[in-house]
Amino acid sequence: MSSSKSSPIPATLIPGDGIGPEITAATVKVLDALGAPFAWDIQHAGMAGIERGGEPLPETTLDSIRRTRLALKGPLTTPVGGGFRSVNVRLREAFSLHANLRPVRTIVPGRYDDIDIVLVRENIGGLYVAHEHYIPIGDDPHGVAVLTGMNTREGCRRIAQYAFDYAVKHGRKKITVVHKANVLKALTGLFLETAREVASDYEGRVAVDDRIVDACAMQLVLNPWQFDMLLCTNLFGDILSDELAGLVGGLGLAPGANIGADAAIFEAVHGSAPDIAGRGIANPVSQMLAAGLMLEHVGAGDLAQRLNQAIRQTLNDDNVRTPDLGGHASTAVFTDALIARLG
Ligand code: NAI
Ligand code: MG
Repeated sequence: MSSSKSSPIPATLIPGDGIGPEITAATVKVLDALGAPFAWDIQHAGMAGIERGGEPLPETTLDSIRRTRLALKGPLTTPVGGGFRSVNVRLREAFSLHANLRPVRTIVPGRYDDIDIVLVRENIGGLYVAHEHYIPIGDDPHGVAVLTGMNTREGCRRIAQYAFDYAVKHGRKKITVVHKANVLKALTGLFLETAREVASDYEGRVAVDDRIVDACAMQLVLNPWQFDMLLCTNLFGDILSDELAGLVGGLGLAPGANIGADAAIFEAVHGSAPDIAGRGIANPVSQMLAAGLMLEHVGAGDLAQRLNQAIRQTLNDDNVRTPDLGGHASTAVFTDALIARLG
């Protein structure tokens, strides 16, 4: 009996904001058709949390993840400037989800073919610690803005070890450490120094090199094939993972996993896309690929493979695509075509 046929696995489902409920419903429909083993506990967060109970991160949602230690999450809207602190950041902190795994592969042939890059992002520290404050100058309360970032040697070592272990396990050959140690000498210098130390334990198995982040961003456009895995600090990983999504056709095709010792939360790389929310045209593939990562995480790699193959067939053989990929299909039409491929 395959692992995927064993007893139901409790998992938290957070539909999210904007296009979140649309792509999450589509993903659950596909997972059901696939016979995925998850028993969902539906919880809310973000604006949806505020609308229901007044909290962007309700205690009931936290309790659910404490219990299931596994979640599929739609994107959550975060106010720009003022307002509540990012719920995504709070979730990563609350469950010590130290590793952010963001793989991209060419699915739809486009500007770049044969892209296959795995980005590992430090998910808790760096500049996203966001210890920020204003210093008033005269009658301007926002005369100066101050930000403190923080990386610990332990945190740097843990994420480097995660990346190198991942490389060994998945047959990856090279890790490029991304930093800005020429300017942010302490914050990103420690990250680079520690990554090199960890790399020495993997000598002969996984190669290592490094790039300054700005040069790396350019090289990703000129010659992305030189990269196998990227190991990034928190902010640089956030930025470069959207760039990676751009290499393979956009944010509709980029999944992510937030992994800690005690819990894991799976989500698309993209946000709540308020500009297209409620129109039924969002591309659900990123969220479905994230569900694929979740299946692999629980040992149902066979189901993940079937899902990934059906996604490829629907997009390429059937040519059913949502508008972001140049097609005319709605989320629902795409989802039904995908389910037909699973049949
Ligand atoms: P976004 O990723 O939501 O959208 C950027 C552009 O990509 C938009 O034009 C959008 O329509 C398009 N897009 C994104 N996903 C798509 C999909 N599945 N199908 C088709 N088109 C898609 O980024 P934006 O607009 O900067 O952020 C919107 C909100 O999302 C903000 O409140 C932000 O804080 C939040 N956000 C949440 C994340 C999360 O929950 N993990 C991650 C990134 C942003
Ligand atoms: Mg981002």
